[in-house]
Amino acid sequence: MIIAANLKTNLTRVQTGEYIANLETFLQTSGVKQDVYIFPAISSLDSFQTSACVGAQNCYPTKNGAFTGEIGVDHLDEFGIKTILIGHSERRHILGETKEQIAAKFEYFKKLGYTIVYCVGEPLEKREAGEAVMMEYIDAQYKGIDTAYEKLIIAYEPVWAIGTGLTPSSEDIKNIHTKLKEKSNAPLLYGGSVKVNNAKEIMALENVDGVLVGSAALHVEDFAQMIADAQHLES
Ligand code: 13P
Repeated sequence: MIIAANLKTNLTRVQTGEYIANLETFLQTSGVKQDVYIFPAISSLDSFQTSACVGAQNCYPTKNGAFTGEIGVDHLDEFGIKTILIGHSERRHILGETKEQIAAKFEYFKKLGYTIVYCVGEPLEKREAGEAVMMEYIDAQYKGIDTAYEKLIIAYEPVWAIGTGLTPSSEDIKNIHTKLKEKSNAPLLYGGSVKVNNAKEIMALENVDGVLVGSAALHVEDFAQMIADAQHLES
């Protein structure tokens, strides 16, 4: 299973270093064999000693240049980072990234051979408008994306479930993941209010290949528990 932590705009570099060191102790002592990903805040990236994969939450599709406030591939290369999150709802809805910009970013990092965690998901009004409208909305997020890219991981994150404590029912997650699996064979994660008390049930669902965790992952013990839960499900 893939268990990923999106630390968003949290944890300084020092705190992230402590977090990853604690996580590493857990990974080494527990002997769990899961694919663990950590996405620290950009200014908290560093050369961490860890068996987890450290990725970037964002990067401008450039090596370097005049893009004030952005970072480029040179900045990721400094830390050997080869994994990126693209299409997160907070970048789509709060930072205003368009589908076209996201598709261009995808293409750029695909050419460089990055592992791409690509996020899709519908806002509440699309879900409430019924399944046809909701699926049409999600379908559009697949346009311009190479769904056969071998280093692709998709994360289904309903916007209304992110940071709200709300989650779709297990039945809903299973149904939508089954539909999304028809669009791409890539591993498919669920994200949106995954917590210690629901992670195991969600990961046990058909067509759920792991979880992308936000706020609950900020507590390393909770994140470690989810990794242990994934291990139990596979043993
Ligand atoms: P929460 O787990 O805080 O709902 O965030 C999910 C998310 O956005 C992960 O990318």
